[in-house]
Amino acid sequence: MLDAITLLRTTVESDIAAIDSLEAVEAFRLKHLVRKGTIAGLMDRLREVPKEQKREVGLALNELRTLAETAESQARERFSSDAKKAAGPDITMPGRRLATGHEHPLMRAKARIEEIFRGMGFSVAQGPEVEDDFHNFGALNFAPEHPARDMQDTFFVKAGDRDDVLLRTHTSSVQIRLMQSTQPPIRAIMPGRVYRNEAVTARSLAEFYQVEGLYVDKGVTMAQLKGTILEFARAYYSADVKTRFRPSYFPFTEPSGEMDITCFLCEGKGCRICKYSGWLEIGGCGMVHPNVLSNCGIDPEVYSGFAFGFGIERTLMLKTGIDDIRLLFDNDVRVLEQF
Ligand code: DAH
Repeated sequence: MLDAITLLRTTVESDIAAIDSLEAVEAFRLKHLVRKGTIAGLMDRLREVPKEQKREVGLALNELRTLAETAESQARERFSSDAKKAAGPDITMPGRRLATGHEHPLMRAKARIEEIFRGMGFSVAQGPEVEDDFHNFGALNFAPEHPARDMQDTFFVKAGDRDDVLLRTHTSSVQIRLMQSTQPPIRAIMPGRVYRNEAVTARSLAEFYQVEGLYVDKGVTMAQLKGTILEFARAYYSADVKTRFRPSYFPFTEPSGEMDITCFLCEGKGCRICKYSGWLEIGGCGMVHPNVLSNCGIDPEVYSGFAFGFGIERTLMLKTGIDDIRLLFDNDVRVLEQF
């Protein structure tokens, strides 16, 4: 009996070595591992073995069966994965969607604003965020002790023994730099970050974005200012939006105005968002003050200009109905995913 087992083991081993396909694995199983197979055949004969040899023979048989079973399952695995590889990727499998990010809605709004003004012949200019008093206030016709300086609570910056260094409170400072370095015609917008020493609330942050506009040339008029703002509002909000200008005060413009657009929600009928007025304020504007032109070396007798400035967050909030400005800076994907 032990000899028969040894003999079968030789056959099993050479059969294992000869397996070269999934079909051969199956043939091996049918030959050796089924109820009528070779190994079971020997198991059946265990009955005839004398009692004192039973243990030894049983062990040898079990060992042979384990060997055959292990070889069979390993070979099956190998040949079936080979077959899968040979067949290439399964193109009928459902795809796995990758979560891709996108540009922040605020940066998109900024890009859209730039695109609209570029289309009207404006270039895009930039200036430093750390400014001096002259560019942020002085040249913009804020007198040294003028209370208008308090309109914008300022962060001052320690810079050696200078006491006039600050974080710009508005992008109007870039107007000054542009007019100092360029002779008219000047037609540019100036988007960027500005800083104010203000409490953080649903309506205000200490750090936000503005976009400034400036057009200086011979014979620039208020009508052109209104036309430009209207064109912008139509492109940015909707074709049937209306604009309105209210008198206001800024030291750097004369006359000065505040620009309103019809409320996006009620379209001018009056609702909670526009406090039942039908109008929403988008920013300030006016005709560049002659003092500002001459502060920058441009002759106000020859040239005139208009300027405007508004908050980018605010335009986006008016467009989307987001009612808390902090949502634009929290980077909560549940908010960002909606845009
Ligand atoms: N700088 C003003 C502010 O931050 C906004 C502004 C108003 C800009 C009138 C202008 C303008 O250019 O003409 O409140």
